Order: sequence, then C-alpha cells, then structure tokens
Amino acid sequence: MTDRGMEPVRVDWAALIEAATRARERAYAPYSRFAVGAALLADGGSIHTGANVENASYGLTICAERAAVVSAIARGARRFVALTVVTDAPTPTPPCGACRQVLREFAPNLDVLCANTSGRQLHRALAELLPDAFGPDSLAE
Ligand code: THU
Repeated sequence: MTDRGMEPVRVDWAALIEAATRARERAYAPYSRFAVGAALLADGGSIHTGANVENASYGLTICAERAAVVSAIARGARRFVALTVVTDAPTPTPPCGACRQVLREFAPNLDVLCANTSGRQLHRALAELLPDAFGPDSLAE
C-alpha cells in the first residue's frame, strides 16, 4: 500500500475493472447465480476488492460492494475515490440502495463505474445515485 500524501489519485479505470473482474470470479452466489465483483480505490492509491457472498438463509447475503468496503476498512483505508462494479448482466448494474448508503459513509464524492463483462459501462457519481443523503454530518448539531 502506497501513501501518496495530498497528491490526488489518478483513477486507472482499466486496473479497477480488472480487479473487480478477478474478484467476481471468487463470488459465492449459488442461489442467485448472479456473481458480482467490486473494486474500491482508496485515496492513498490502494485497491480493495469484494465479491458477493450468499447464504442459505438468503437475507444474510453480503453484496460485493459492502464486502469491498469492509475489507478496505480492515486494511486501514478510510477514504475512497472510485469504485467499479462488474457483473455479466446485459445492462451494467449499479450498487443497491443499502450499498449506496454504506459507501456514502466513507466516500461522499465517490466516482462509480459499473461495467459488464461485455464492456458496457454506466458511469455515475455516488451523489447522483444517492441524492440528499443522510450521513455523518447529519448527526452533527
Ligand atoms: N448484489 C451485489 O453484490 N451488489 C449489488 O449492488 C446488487 C446485488 C448481489 C447480491 C446477491 O448475491 C445477488 O447480487 C443477487 O441479488
């Protein structure tokens, strides 16, 4: 993990898509058969990946995006610049509502690129996906 100080991080989208694609191959999705991979770029330049992890008790499923956030936080990253999500759906799939809220906690300005395995892309700001969000500042007096 490199520390780039205050230098802005350049987003290597191809590297992030590659990382999410690799992570997707490790998804555990025997029930939905819908494998998702995610890759988060931290402000220090490190990349953190996640895949969806399902459970026989379906409601306990963890999405790829939240898996990536939890892994990143456990490795010491706290602020994120960009996210890629990769599926094989015909239309690229954006993060679910719960994941948008969890991402918002650490990255209000996150740049989100959703891609499918055929190369189609959907590029959005998290603030577009979750406008007027409730966040840490909402708790301040
Ligand atoms: N899933 C994700 O991993 N991320 C999303 O943003 C949407 C849905 C997973 C959960 C479940 O394992 C499968 O996709 C079908 O919903």
